[in-house]
Amino acid sequence: MAEGSGPTEWFPHPVGVGPWEVENPGVPRPTGEEYDPDLLDDGDRRNVVDAYRWWRTEAIIADIDTRRHALHIAIENFENDSNIGTVVRTANAFAVDTVHIVGRKRWNRRGAMVTDRYQHLEHHPDTGSVMAYAAAHDLTVVAVDNTPGSVPLETAELPERCLLLFGQEGPGVTAEAQAGASMTVSIAQFGSTRSINAGVAAGIAMHAWIRQHADLENAW
Ligand SMILES: C[S@@+](CC[C@H](N)C(=O)[O-])C[C@H]1O[C@@H](n2cnc3c(N)ncnc32)[C@H](O)[C@@H]1O
Repeated sequence: MAEGSGPTEWFPHPVGVGPWEVENPGVPRPTGEEYDPDLLDDGDRRNVVDAYRWWRTEAIIADIDTRRHALHIAIENFENDSNIGTVVRTANAFAVDTVHIVGRKRWNRRGAMVTDRYQHLEHHPDTGSVMAYAAAHDLTVVAVDNTPGSVPLETAELPERCLLLFGQEGPGVTAEAQAGASMTVSIAQFGSTRSINAGVAAGIAMHAWIRQHADLENAW
């Protein structure tokens, strides 16, 4: 962690950093192969944490790969869901292993803010395919929706090797997914709306898993 910063506190770099020589006058250029010579020359304007400044994209992915969580996310995308970008960005922030998109391959990447570049993504044609993936990788599927029979996320014990599955605006999690899941968890609500945004629900549920299973010593 950089001197002077605390957990998830970054030095102010609203538009990234400039060339190495400008940011570190008199300091020899780093020679590690994780560094990208072009970024060292031109500056690094990407949305990455300070620890990854001037690093090659592949080196960043490889570094996250060494400490990804046993948490997978799946989102059903049978219509057209503009929340997937938000889900991918949050999954990246929590070092989720893989985001599984079920149904349509096309999704609106704008909300991902380029984080999809560092996040493993897999497509599945249907719900059966993602269920088979979970079984083959020893992952327990937990559906997330506020449907009858669901258990409160606030008190549920989430499995460590876990695949959290979300539905889409409108239909919610399909009956097939709920039938294949070990349980369905709901987020407690207190107002008038029937449900919250799927991207927000995904953030809340991912963080519930983080609170139960992540080693906070490893957070930035
Ligand atoms: C906007 S909801 C739509 C479905 C919802 N069951 C309904 O009756 O309107 C889209 C998705 O967001 C997630 N979601 C929204 N609110 C939730 C809540 N209170 N608890 C759990 N998941 C929720 C679920 O994954 C859900 O499938």
